Amino acid sequence: MAKMWAGRTAGDVNELADSFNSSISFDSRLYKQDITGSMAHAAMLSAQGIISSDDADSIISALKQILQDIESGNLQIDPKAEDIHMFVEQVLTERIGDTGKKLHTARSRNDQVALDLRLYLRDYADEVSSLLKDLVKALKTQAEKNIDVIMPGYTHLQHAQPVLFSHYMLAYAMMFLRDIERIKDCRKRINVSPIGCCALAGTTYDTDRALEAKKLGFDSVCLNSLDGVSDRDFCVELLSSLSLVMTHLSRLSEELILWSSQEFSFIELSDDFTTGSSIMPQKKNPDMAELCRGKTGRVYGDLMGLLTTLKGLPLAYNKDMQEDKEGVFDACDTVKMCLSVCAPMILSMKINKENMLESAKKGFMNATDLADYLVIKGLPFRDAYKISGSVVAYCIQTGHILEDLPLSEYKKFSTLISDDVYQAIDLANCVQKRSSEGGTSTESVKKQLAFLEDAL
Ligand code: ARG
Repeated sequence: MAKMWAGRTAGDVNELADSFNSSISFDSRLYKQDITGSMAHAAMLSAQGIISSDDADSIISALKQILQDIESGNLQIDPKAEDIHMFVEQVLTERIGDTGKKLHTARSRNDQVALDLRLYLRDYADEVSSLLKDLVKALKTQAEKNIDVIMPGYTHLQHAQPVLFSHYMLAYAMMFLRDIERIKDCRKRINVSPIGCCALAGTTYDTDRALEAKKLGFDSVCLNSLDGVSDRDFCVELLSSLSLVMTHLSRLSEELILWSSQEFSFIELSDDFTTGSSIMPQKKNPDMAELCRGKTGRVYGDLMGLLTTLKGLPLAYNKDMQEDKEGVFDACDTVKMCLSVCAPMILSMKINKENMLESAKKGFMNATDLADYLVIKGLPFRDAYKISGSVVAYCIQTGHILEDLPLSEYKKFSTLISDDVYQAIDLANCVQKRSSEGGTSTESVKKQLAFLEDAL
């Protein structure tokens, strides 16, 4: 078929080059945005007297019909078309003849594709924010249900100090809340209209870009046409935000994988979100969490790919930019899928309180509290730290834990130690005493829960 852009050339491209050039296989998903944008464009052209209102009406109603036909399956998107923009215009012209040819007045595919992508990503930003909210809610629910469960807190993956499981869950909730904020912020820069920048230099027609932008729900229009058609910062920003979402998901997944191992046995993922092995009948594998961890690499790759594509591109539009979409869509789809799986996986996991507590009793996680106890009795912290360390070393040698070391033995390390030491090193007390702002006490966790409730 002769190309709509046949002009200087006859438009019959080598078959291989034609398929190399085509983006329909991945930009067909923009059909709705493309048609919506075109309807607004036709309305603007007519409001400005650039085309007649009759022409605009017939273009708009034909576009409506095309949209309906695509959605109902009555119109198949032609896999041989060059891209979605050309496909829609082609069908329009087939259906209403010469009038259809007026639609592309005062625009170019360069501003059109930027418009479509922005419309698509604006919706996506809202969708992914709502999925992130679901995940935050799942973490919050687990925190509420298990508010007083004590578990080991780690640094260097070594037992450090006891914390509440609820505090742990809310640490992740805070990360995902920041992700929501980041995406919300990025959405502001997505929601700027490029349409009317045309090929690169603006247009000789008396267009009303603000009107067209308003019809499409944009907050403003981009003010430099060269920038308008070549800017993909909003894609980079979104992909970096999504990369960070994946970083958070991956860290969470890693914990879930560790926690469901035989060695930890802190949680059990529900059957719905685990798989078995084809050979080992006893297996229950955390595949979904592993996949989230694994897919993180590909989202980073999408971001790196886009940055690399953009690097070194002269202004304005270059065909290289067609390469933006596959990575962007891949990242969008991947993050959506991971979030959709993670929220119910978190919500349905079982917590083994006893195992968490048993584990927290090991590793002398109350050694800091013994030192703090001696500080209260009047010792400088460094001296108290030394004594506590010596007690720990003695306990390791003699097979004790701090809780069961007799008072007479404690006295050998410091005469300041009396019967109230057992209170001070009791794990539940250790947790509850950390009532500083943002600490792990129940009181602090409740404040965090209230904050999240508000933020959601
Ligand atoms: N399919 C192209 C893309 O995705 C649309 C823009 C093409 N513009 C052009 N002048 N060839 O970027």
